[in-house]
Amino acid sequence: MRASEILKTFGLGELICYCSKVFEGEIKWAIRREFAETVDDVSRRTWACDGFCNGILCMKKVQKILETEGKNPDIKNFVLRREKLLYPVRKYNEELWNEFEEFKKKVL
Ligand code: FES
Repeated sequence: MRASEILKTFGLGELICYCSKVFEGEIKWAIRREFAETVDDVSRRTWACDGFCNGILCMKKVQKILETEGKNPDIKNFVLRREKLLYPVRKYNEELWNEFEEFKKKVL
């Protein structure tokens, strides 16, 4: 990754994805320089939303950045695909699962 170029262009910004340690500047780089249009695109280019919690804690922030950049994040499809990966979370972390369920209700 071109860390110094990203820092010069967009700065570090807020830590967006705690699991994969992805900062706002990296997400803006993915959107403006690597043509990311959706949450899935950002995830593939940066590993945001692809860490231990599978995006439960950061997908809303990525969605907001994409919308601010004038993109359609396609969050519905991302949530539907992630739901199957999150079944272990439902079993072992009820609080996190409930947060996901609340967010899912809002976007579907
Ligand atoms: S905070 Fe981004 S995957 Fe967990």
